[in-house]
Amino acid sequence: MKLKTLLHSVAAIAVAGPALADVNIYSARHYDSDTVLFDQFEEETGIAVNRIEGDSDELIARMQAEGDNSPADIFLTVDAGRLWRADEAGLLSAVDSDVLKNRIPEFLRHPDGHWFGLSQRARIIFYAKDRVDNPPQTYEALADDAYEGQICIRSSSNVYNQSLLASIIEADGEEAAQDWAAGVRENMARDPQGGDTDQLRGIVSGECDIAVTNTYYFLRGLVDDVDGLTSGIDNIGWVWPNQDDRGAHTNIAGAAVTASAPNRDEAVQFLEFLTSDFAQEHFANQNNEYPAVPGVALGEGVAQLGYFIPDNTTPRSAYGSNAPKAQEIFNAVDWP
Ligand SMILES: [Fe+2]
Repeated sequence: MKLKTLLHSVAAIAVAGPALADVNIYSARHYDSDTVLFDQFEEETGIAVNRIEGDSDELIARMQAEGDNSPADIFLTVDAGRLWRADEAGLLSAVDSDVLKNRIPEFLRHPDGHWFGLSQRARIIFYAKDRVDNPPQTYEALADDAYEGQICIRSSSNVYNQSLLASIIEADGEEAAQDWAAGVRENMARDPQGGDTDQLRGIVSGECDIAVTNTYYFLRGLVDDVDGLTSGIDNIGWVWPNQDDRGAHTNIAGAAVTASAPNRDEAVQFLEFLTSDFAQEHFANQNNEYPAVPGVALGEGVAQLGYFIPDNTTPRSAYGSNAPKAQEIFNAVDWP
């Protein structure tokens, strides 16, 4: 180690430049296996990756407090709604990269390059096989009278649901979206409680017949032993919604180069690296998500759920820009 450091400093003197470049990541999405990606990037580029982990809103607040002196080069988080919040706060910057534009489909990135989707997470419909003969085939159908008293879905303060409603506003218009939210509210089996896993647990306990959750929570129950879920998971079926029209709702995990990035070039390089086949597979598989880059192989976990058509049209930026309207609608229909 000491020898390596010494060699680096000798090299630095030789070229009269900095010994090793760095890139600093503020990450609200962290997995132990991230280090595999970071090591590979460092090996390919000689750029060391430093990361600070935290809750998304905490990291946004931290960047705001640090201002121009923030060491953050990259902000990495989940949900387009959260990326949009960071952008609204003026924390992100436009990146013009052919690699990023060519690799990441237009609808999965900010129109001016303020952030880029790196994986897709599907939010779909699950149901009790022994109690539901005709599960809803679309998000819209969740509001049908036929499902009165059957649906479990979490609270309106949850960003996943805000983004889901934002996508319905985009697809169906504000008025229809409000009718939809009112209909789902009417159909709830209980007032919203807990996280996504708790909605699935509700199917197992018999409290809920139908639940709306991200698919990776279901897969955790399938692969690991999740209390209150795995024991009854064989009775849970799933529907890929809206396969005859816009496709299933997918949100993104994504990243952006910050407005004050001290290592801007390195940060862009890192984002480009994350769109490589190797990084895409790894990034998606960490949490049983789907790659953002078309043509990258699906992981073993998600393959168990089969193929589906994701929403390949709705710009994910609309999840953020429609978020205030979505919150208004949730309040208007009394969705707790
Ligand atoms: Fe989640």
